[in-house]
Amino acid sequence: MHIGCPTEIKPQEFRVGLTPNAAREAVSHGHQVTMQSGAGNGAGFTDADYTDAGAAIVETAPEVFETADMIVKVKEPQAGERKMLREGQILFTYLHLAPDPEQTKDLMASGATCIAYETVTDERGGLPLLAPMSEVAGRLAPQVGAWTLQKANGGRGVLMGGVPGVGPARVLVIGGGVVGTHAARIAAGMGADVTVLDRSLPRLRYLDDVFSGQFKNSYASAGNTIALAREADLIIGAVLIPGAAAPKLISRAQLSELKPGAALVDVAIDQGGCFETSKATTHEDPIYDVDGIMHYCVANMPGAVARTSTIALGNATMPFMLSLADKGWRQACEDDPHLLNGLNVHAGKLTYFAVGKALGIDVLSPALALKV
Ligand SMILES: NC(=O)c1ccc[n+]([C@@H]2O[C@H](COP(=O)([O-])OP(=O)(O)OC[C@H]3O[C@@H](n4cnc5c(N)ncnc54)[C@H](O)[C@@H]3O)[C@@H](O)[C@H]2O)c1
Repeated sequence: MHIGCPTEIKPQEFRVGLTPNAAREAVSHGHQVTMQSGAGNGAGFTDADYTDAGAAIVETAPEVFETADMIVKVKEPQAGERKMLREGQILFTYLHLAPDPEQTKDLMASGATCIAYETVTDERGGLPLLAPMSEVAGRLAPQVGAWTLQKANGGRGVLMGGVPGVGPARVLVIGGGVVGTHAARIAAGMGADVTVLDRSLPRLRYLDDVFSGQFKNSYASAGNTIALAREADLIIGAVLIPGAAAPKLISRAQLSELKPGAALVDVAIDQGGCFETSKATTHEDPIYDVDGIMHYCVANMPGAVARTSTIALGNATMPFMLSLADKGWRQACEDDPHLLNGLNVHAGKLTYFAVGKALGIDVLSPALALKV
């Protein structure tokens, strides 16, 4: 198969769809890989890294799209990229179609077969191509929270680990899933006094079994949440209710009950945020102050560490990418129902029920799409 990887053109996106290692694996499986020149620069990979791996380099995106049987990317294709897709071509990338009718319409019109990273599943009911980015955002959250707490940034001027004779920062993590667990581990590693809240008893049992020596956990009732928030220097929002907007767990009125200069890092901002006063920010201007409480609400946190994020995403996507290339999309999806769950658009039809429901578009069942 001929696999093509263009440079990402969405503003502030520095990741790349194929790492040199993924390109090397594809080539060793007998496939041809074409990279757009400079595609890996933002993640610290040079054109030479790709040619060493056996890939060809072309100058422009149209050259990549024209020749490739499968396009591998990171972000959803932008309007100009969508025009270059063609019937029978495979697109393997994040799509997030539910809030994006225009993209959905264009992908259907293209005739391409579009497999979305975010809806591929695993045997434990998880989302294996979203999890690496949650791991990155979770581990980054205490790092940006520690920075936000510094006096010059408007924070309380509290050091995460304290020093001998001075106690550590108190960190409250709301939501103990992938983001929350990674955030708690790193905050505890920095020496902070950490408590994780969750509403799922099985999850609390897991956290207790595995991490009881490193951080505390508690049930996320409204009473516990505000009581622990009052004591916290840094609060990390990491809740998710699948398919729904994030619940608002700290209201504007409650900000006055928090410590002056406390920091709120709302990782759940991509689902609307779990603090009433959260609004999405960017890496250029990541923090703002509401009533003396510093908010950090960057919607694409993994972009700050594009190299780590690219490699982590590549590790997760590579087996699926190789399967699609080795077997063709139909056989690969027939053999793996979890990959079939990633199928969102095929031959002009929408094939993912939740997106159809959100956008009011008829859906062709993925099982039937395999026959078209
Ligand atoms: N900002 C970013 O760059 C970025 C990056 C990655 C993920 N995210 C977001 O982070 C959020 C968390 O993702 P995840 O992968 O950890 O999800 P997850 O499903 O692994 O974990 C979410 C946890 O929240 C818990 N929860 C649900 N409602 C709760 C409540 N009211 N109180 C306390 N806990 C509650 C659930 O029981 C679950 O354990 C998602 O919104 C995700 O989209 C953001």
